[in-house]
Amino acid sequence: MTDGAASTGRARVFSGMQPSGAVHLGNLLGALTGWVTLQKDADCVYSIVDLHAITAPDDHDPALLRQRTLDLAAALLGVGVDPSRSTLFVQSHVREHAELAWLFNCVATFGELGRMPQFKDKSAGRDASVSVGLFDYPVLQTADILLYHATKVPVGEDQRHHIELARDIGQRFNHRFGEVFTLPTAILPPVAARVMDLQEPTRKMSKSASSEKGVVFVLDEPDAIAAKFRSAVTDSDGKVRVDRAAKPGVTNLLEILAATTSRTVEQAADEHAGSGYGALKTAVAEAVIPFLEPMRARSLELAADQAELERILADGAARAREVAAPTLERARLAMGLLPPA
Ligand code: TRP
Repeated sequence: MTDGAASTGRARVFSGMQPSGAVHLGNLLGALTGWVTLQKDADCVYSIVDLHAITAPDDHDPALLRQRTLDLAAALLGVGVDPSRSTLFVQSHVREHAELAWLFNCVATFGELGRMPQFKDKSAGRDASVSVGLFDYPVLQTADILLYHATKVPVGEDQRHHIELARDIGQRFNHRFGEVFTLPTAILPPVAARVMDLQEPTRKMSKSASSEKGVVFVLDEPDAIAAKFRSAVTDSDGKVRVDRAAKPGVTNLLEILAATTSRTVEQAADEHAGSGYGALKTAVAEAVIPFLEPMRARSLELAADQAELERILADGAARAREVAAPTLERARLAMGLLPPA
């Protein structure tokens, strides 16, 4: 990987995902298919952000974190992140992230971090007991992105404020200490679909759902997937058509069908306009199962070969460090930190 995007003529993309649970259809259709697509034209750097995962207030189990980190690596490779085109690494393996976050801590302000909507959400009613890491989360995210001179950051809508903060911090640093950082822009992942929980179709599909019945995991067995779609919540109107507000369950099924068969939602709706909900659910399951099957097989195969996973991650970390280390060095010098003799 070369230093800046300019030297390759391809945009540098950076994105990260927390190892906080098994990958599901929401992650896949909302973000990861976009990550995979971007590899065609951009120089992509993808990170398993374990340092972010340990900011979660209640949910830190060391053995589980280690396992989830490996599992996420297997899943990302299984869905099509290609280590021969892109850089895939574990955030904590590249120590420059933590160090640059410290430098940025001295540029970011208490006020701007306190205003981050995600922090306000996650700390609501418990500010005194959440970790400083949770407060500082967006600063570490800023370091992730700016270390690689990334110009494009594919993220969901909920991350927009964090990317704007990254721009603000980068700009402030450059203004105070000299041009070191490239300012990133958030992009919505190409081909993103917003997948809702099958049981509570007004909520985003998420690993923190109250029940796994509404969440389809990439590693689910075909029978389990069929059962989850069979019991998907719909409505009593009986007509297959797109209406997010009035018919969230049916619309969600159509969105999933469209995304897994490369059609538009309108096309999927037209084709099923005369069907009952039972037939629609069967059609969706019959589209999703073969869509996931090759990814499931590859993920399982990789998950069973820890040595190979570790080799891929070590190689990714080495390539990431080739870009991150000189960037950090420039930032240290610009700030006046005495180079060690
Ligand atoms: N905060 C992001 C999320 O929860 C994950 C993340 C960490 C990230 N560092 C990043 C995303 C850098 C984009 C760029 O989705």
